[in-house]
Amino acid sequence: MTGAGASRACRAAADPPSGPCQGPVLVTGGTGYIGSHTCVCLQAAGYAVLVVDDLSNSGRGVLDAIAGISGTMPLFECADVRDAEAIDRIVARHRPVAAIHFAGVKSVAESSRSPAMYYDINVGGSLCLLKAMARQAPPRIVFSSSATVYGEPEHLPLRESHPLHPESAYGRSKMMVELVLEDVCTADTGASVVALRYFNPVGAHASGELGESPRGIPENLMPYLGRVASGLASRLSVFGDNYPTPDGTCIRDYVHVMDLAAAHVAALRLVLHAPGFHVANIGSGTGISVLELIDAYSAACGRALDYEVVGRRPGDVACYYADPTVARHLLGWTAQRDVHQMCADAHRYATSAAASRASRPAAGRTTPAAGIHARRAGRISGIPVERAGAGTGPGMDASL
Ligand code: NAD
Ligand code: WQD
Repeated sequence: MTGAGASRACRAAADPPSGPCQGPVLVTGGTGYIGSHTCVCLQAAGYAVLVVDDLSNSGRGVLDAIAGISGTMPLFECADVRDAEAIDRIVARHRPVAAIHFAGVKSVAESSRSPAMYYDINVGGSLCLLKAMARQAPPRIVFSSSATVYGEPEHLPLRESHPLHPESAYGRSKMMVELVLEDVCTADTGASVVALRYFNPVGAHASGELGESPRGIPENLMPYLGRVASGLASRLSVFGDNYPTPDGTCIRDYVHVMDLAAAHVAALRLVLHAPGFHVANIGSGTGISVLELIDAYSAACGRALDYEVVGRRPGDVACYYADPTVARHLLGWTAQRDVHQMCADAHRYATSAAASRASRPAAGRTTPAAGIHARRAGRISGIPVERAGAGTGPGMDASL
């Protein structure tokens, strides 16, 4: 998609900022999967963007892709969000008008092996950012939360008022940050936070230049389908077909990453204008089964993708999907792209040159910050270990 096309895609979510802008929008994790698509939408909507990322699960080339799509290279600072001194310096220097906080780790399975690392990065990093922002002005933050905070659904669709009982260290780290941010908004009436609880983000930018590039073997369904479709894997393992759902496979609420990006632009507008703590589900409101997604992806790539049914994956919930009403009322946001577009865009990226470049071994992408992760792991376990992205490949020592 061209820059103009990107503008059209994002403009519906927000008018350009009005009045003199005090500073850029700080986007932590802005070279990651969801952050990079959000940078494109922010720039298309007229915001200046400052990305802060330690490149532990992304590469610098993503900045070029963002610039190629939107016509503007975002400002970039390579830093770990837990590095208080660096984050203070960056915030004091650029005086961002608000922060969108994506930076973190996101694998349920990895969080069971390395819970302390998850709390350190996800909770510690959020506190660090929050304190740096609060030193300048009442903090304005859009926070990447997750539907995983709900745990096993007591009722469907999931509403924001559903009790929170996350079942993993990852989910608990997200819930903890939400609680902290809510308390901050209670204590400081000028503070404003929107916590967005994403359901299952999938898809890619229509240009094929940005998408999801998990390191190693993907553990999530859509990137694995991309692997099968591009011939890197022979078939998909379907984790169970004896769930109490119409076709026996699990049902999820998939949301296109560009719709998700647009939700952040809408949430940014809210934090810039409405103090207080707000929370919204970001999902389509439609449940899709594993077999239905295989069918949609097969149609998108033009051949029937092979699969075999294997045993259930421990911890999987049979069915969940969002009630997106709050997002509609609070943010004026609803998902626009259907499952066919999700699969078509995911497939275009999975078979693109950009995806091949992004999936090259991490060796060439080691950064000072990745070195920090490795050093911290090595110090504890006594062996040099580099943190793997998205729960794939070797994780850190569980004792950390
Ligand atoms: P991602 O791994 O693609 O992006 C995260 C980015 O943060 C990466 O670029 C990584 O290099 C950076 N990062 C990680 N630790 C950092 C640190 N300590 N300091 C600075 N940068 C750091 O992940 P994503 O899918 O884009 O997810 C973004 C956010 O959304 C995460 O907080 C995740 O928990 C949340 N989320 C993701 C999903 C999903 O399915 N992708 C669902 C719900 C919530
Ligand atoms: C979807 C369905 C699998 C792979 C995860 C996190 C959640 C959130 C989003 C961050 C399930 C099935 C999968 C495969 C399969 N992330 N499946 N074969 O587990 O719903 O959510 O990502 O916040 O916290 O848990 O997503 O894509 O892994 O699985 O059959 O090879 O596909 O069993 O039913 P999930 P997923």
